[in-house]
Amino acid sequence: MVELLPSILSADFARLADEVAAAERGGGTVIHVDVMDGHFVPNITLGPPVVKSLRKHTRLPLDCHLMIENPDEFIPAFAEAGANWISVHYEACRHLHRTLQLIAQHGMQPAVVINPATPVDLLIPVLGMVHHVLVMSVNPGFGGQEFIPYSLNKIRRLKELRQQMGLSFRIEVDGGVAHETIAMVVEAGAELLVAGNAVFGAGRAEHDARSLLEAARQ
Ligand code: DX5
Ligand code: ZN
Repeated sequence: MVELLPSILSADFARLADEVAAAERGGGTVIHVDVMDGHFVPNITLGPPVVKSLRKHTRLPLDCHLMIENPDEFIPAFAEAGANWISVHYEACRHLHRTLQLIAQHGMQPAVVINPATPVDLLIPVLGMVHHVLVMSVNPGFGGQEFIPYSLNKIRRLKELRQQMGLSFRIEVDGGVAHETIAMVVEAGAELLVAGNAVFGAGRAEHDARSLLEAARQ
C-alpha cells in the first residue's frame, strides 16, 4: 500500500497549518518535515519549534528528515516537540548504529537516509533496526529538483535485500517525485512517497495531492 508524504518544504511557511490540512484532505497520510542546518546541506529551514507548532495542528505522523551535522545533539528536542519518525543521513553519522538506538530510546521510529552517491549495501548492518530507509532521488538541500533515474535501481536493491533478510522496513523515496515519475518509483518498490513541489508548488495542495495519489495507484 503506497502512502503520500507531503513535504512542507514547498509550502507557504506563513500558512503551514492550512497547507498541511489541505494536503491531508487530498490524501496525504504522513507529513514530511525537512530540517536543514546550512552545514550538511547548503540551505537552512526549520527546527523543533516549528515541529512543536505543527504538532498542535495535525494528528498525522510527523516524519522529520534531518539534513544536519551531529543529529544526536538534537534528537531529544525533536522528541519533545512531538516528532514521530526521525531519519538521519548515513553520511552525517559517525556512529550510525548508536544514533538509531538513540532515536528509538526517545520513543520515535528510527530511519536512515542515503544520498544519491551512497550505495544501498552499506546499510546492510542496520537494516534490522530501522522503521524505513529513505532513498534520496535528488541531492538534498532544495525542493523542485529533477529526479535521478539511478535511484530506481537502489529502490529495487532494497526491496531484494528486505526479502532476502526477512525484514519488514518500509522503503521511502524523496526528491523529484511528481506526476511524471511517481508510477516508476512505485513500480520499483517504493511505498512512502515524499513530494514537495508537486503537492505545494502550485498553491492547490488538496487537488495536487489527490491527483498524485491517483497517478501512484495506476
Ligand atoms: C530535499 C528534501 C525534499 C524536498 C523534495 O532536500 O529532502 O523532501 O522537499 O522536494 P521535491 O518533491 O520538490 O523534489
Ligand atoms: Zn526530505
